[in-house]
Amino acid sequence: MKALQAHQLSKTYRKSKQPALDSLDLEIDAGQIFTMLGRNGAGKTTFLRIASTQLLPTSGTVTVLGLDAVKDAKELRGRIAMAPQEAETIYPLTPRDHVLLSLRMRGMEKGEATKRAQEALDALELTEVADVNSDWLSGGLKQRVIVAMVMRTDADLIFLDEPTIGLDPVNRRRVWDQLTRLKQSGKTIVLTTHYMDEAEALSDSLVIINKGKVMASGTPRSVKAAVTSRTTRVDVFDKFNLSELGAFGHVVTIAGRFRVLTDAEAAKRLGDEAVARNASIAISPVTLDDVFVDIVGEAERGEENGR
Ligand SMILES: Nc1ncnc2c1ncn2[C@@H]1O[C@H](COP(=O)(O)OP(=O)(O)O)[C@@H](O)[C@H]1O
Ligand SMILES: [Mg+2]
Repeated sequence: MKALQAHQLSKTYRKSKQPALDSLDLEIDAGQIFTMLGRNGAGKTTFLRIASTQLLPTSGTVTVLGLDAVKDAKELRGRIAMAPQEAETIYPLTPRDHVLLSLRMRGMEKGEATKRAQEALDALELTEVADVNSDWLSGGLKQRVIVAMVMRTDADLIFLDEPTIGLDPVNRRRVWDQLTRLKQSGKTIVLTTHYMDEAEALSDSLVIINKGKVMASGTPRSVKAAVTSRTTRVDVFDKFNLSELGAFGHVVTIAGRFRVLTDAEAAKRLGDEAVARNASIAISPVTLDDVFVDIVGEAERGEENGR
């Protein structure tokens, strides 16, 4: 079953010339973690706001859990939850107040909401700060409060807009664990991120969007495979120059060294050459990060050429 379907969805904000979403088509299977990956300004928040009934599209449709996000907005709101991007906590409420309120506002009975609020606070390791004024919390703690607010709702589909922004690596993984648990409990999770490792580690499927358009979609593995025949990367630290490396694959410059994206066979040839020259190299499989830089960079270069 599809949990979400967008058809030719477009949004152009008033006074804006460029569309934020440009005839976007996508489908999300129920029970999955689905990630929308894109740079700042790609259109991720715009999509989430439309799908969660907070913003009207300019044209096209989104169906969420079988309900139209525009026509059936009222009914849909009871079945979804959303953790917005960079949300502020409210002075002088405590983290517990925030989580409790978000459950009570959905109509949950008080005893049940109290129990679930405690579970959500524990899950995100907010137990110690549960009853302090939220204003005293660091940015990372506030962000975890926002995530805790959607952790134990009765919603079937949960949107999270950059849920791990500003979190340290330990807390990012803690949020990943919780999202995986939510999925295991049968919910559909739709999240946005610009962290490639996050998308790769967490998602059953993903789309890469750029300027409101889908550039690639599928599983992390299939996106890597479909978008690029370059399965292998070779980081070259010395003794080669840019033009020589061009013969082995696609070269990108990263912090003063070269990364060659290529296939296994060419990587081996480059490896042999490096041994002959006694050069320092490192060979590894491409990551989603490489793919992202490759296709988003490609699109932007194409556009510049077109001008
Ligand atoms: N309220 C708004 N009014 C006008 N333009 C907006 C508004 N919100 C976002 N945009 C523009 O729409 C595009 C997509 O933004 P957004 O959906 O926030 O991207 P992302 O979440 O991927 O960073 C950007 O070019 C942004 O400047
Ligand atoms: Mg955003």
